[in-house]
Amino acid sequence: TEQTFIAIKPDGVQRGLVGPIISRFESRGYKLVAIKLMTASKEHLENHYSDLAGKPFFPGLIAYMGSGPICAMVWEGREVVKMGRAMLGATNPLASAPGTIRGDYCIDVGRNICHGSDSVDAAKKEIALWFKPEEVQSWKPAQFDWVYEKA
Ligand code: GTP
Ligand code: MG
Repeated sequence: TEQTFIAIKPDGVQRGLVGPIISRFESRGYKLVAIKLMTASKEHLENHYSDLAGKPFFPGLIAYMGSGPICAMVWEGREVVKMGRAMLGATNPLASAPGTIRGDYCIDVGRNICHGSDSVDAAKKEIALWFKPEEVQSWKPAQFDWVYEKA
């Protein structure tokens, strides 16, 4: 099954939004398979956002992302990469519809509270960057057969 890397950024952690964000993925029926709080180094973040090196906002992005603990997670389930992005909303919160995480909880593109992998390939790379294989759990939630007709 598909997995995606979702991270609550330092502003989301500071603002007490860890619970509400986790709740949305849980109640959708997705499965939490890894989670930890960590303050990421500059090198780690430059690696995570390597595609954006050279953008004018890059130094600010790295400073923001390293400013405090991040809640790093792996979520699993059917089409979770695409649905995770849809649940987050647009990069710019002002372009995110109400009902999405960014559309409900934030305003500024430089303080947009959460990250989600943008493709299955990116998800694989990001999960490998943020988690050791043994930190990712394999388990069957009690509700599994009530979420999926056929696994
Ligand atoms: P992530 O899920 O964090 O990767 O966001 P995204 O995939 O929606 O956007 P992208 O990967 O293009 O940019 C990564 C992050 O850089 C965004 O989430 C923003 O926090 C920040 N960012 C992107 N564009 C801008 C911008 O124009 N200005 C500023 N200040 N920050 C930006
Ligand atoms: Mg991105």
